[in-house]
Amino acid sequence: MEFETRLKEVADKLTVALDQLIPPAAGPEADLMRAMRHAALANGKRMRPFYVLETGALFQAPEKSLLRAAAALECIHTYSLVHDDLPCMDDDDYRRGQPTVHKAFDEATAVLAGDALLTLAFKILASEETHTDPHVRLRLIERLADSSGAQGMVAGQMIDMSANNGVADLNVITRMQRLKTGALISHSMEAGAIIGGAREAERNALAGFAADLGLAYQISDDLLDAEGDAEDLGKAVGKDAGMGKANFVTVLGIEGARERVRLLAAQSKEHLAIFRNRADILLQSVDFVLDRTR
Ligand code: IPE
Ligand code: IPE
Ligand code: MG
Ligand code: MG
Ligand code: MG
Repeated sequence: MEFETRLKEVADKLTVALDQLIPPAAGPEADLMRAMRHAALANGKRMRPFYVLETGALFQAPEKSLLRAAAALECIHTYSLVHDDLPCMDDDDYRRGQPTVHKAFDEATAVLAGDALLTLAFKILASEETHTDPHVRLRLIERLADSSGAQGMVAGQMIDMSANNGVADLNVITRMQRLKTGALISHSMEAGAIIGGAREAERNALAGFAADLGLAYQISDDLLDAEGDAEDLGKAVGKDAGMGKANFVTVLGIEGARERVRLLAAQSKEHLAIFRNRADILLQSVDFVLDRTR
């Protein structure tokens, strides 16, 4: 199957799942659910869910479990975007082709909708419907907490916020990108491996793949901020330079950053060799990241 067809299929299933998992808007707090829905049901690429489903498929893992783990991860990713766009962080007005949550509602609602999406993620994983084995559920919960919290995405966002002064240390930038974006992308592959009961060698191969791809994904996001199209991306461009953010593009330049993405992409593919032709669609996803315009 072609990557784009599969990505669309995953995105459609995921949106249906999120629609069922996010509480309906009702009562005096209805704007909270409306804001959660505004953010989560919007037109995201759903790359992380794709990786949960595709790595799980390598081990014939049950799709229902994978879909719920993917929905939990997408709740966390969506909350991170809602908070990332707030005026106290990147101050963005557009996201996923529509006004950001604090623009469509207000700042307090955006903070609370992010909080509620974060909490919902762990409720989804804790439910018996996600997996009958409580050890598997606990492992998913623990690893999602690690990848999204103070040793993962939130730590990366903290470094990002303090990098606004434009300090150009490639080691710090690499660490920041691995944490703010790499950690959740890595978890997407890890979740598929946990649910699928992967062997150690397979888990290590996926972890290596994810580490290279996660970094490539954020460098390509930085490239798109510098030279992409706001309409294609569904969000503003030129923000990083405008805010004086240090990233691979500001340090290595456009060509240097592109070369780094090419290198990481090629390197990431090598980790998949142990899966032979079963990893074909994962390999295709690397080319998408390499050439992405959205
Ligand atoms: C945007 O992520 C922010 C990063 C962590 C790079 P995506 O480019 O995956 O955004 P959506 O989910 O498709 O909106
Ligand atoms: C955000 O990185 C990564 C998150 C953890 C949300 P960016 O700030 O570069 O993401 P965009 O460009 O706003 O999507
Ligand atoms: Mg940011
Ligand atoms: Mg941002
Ligand atoms: Mg960006």
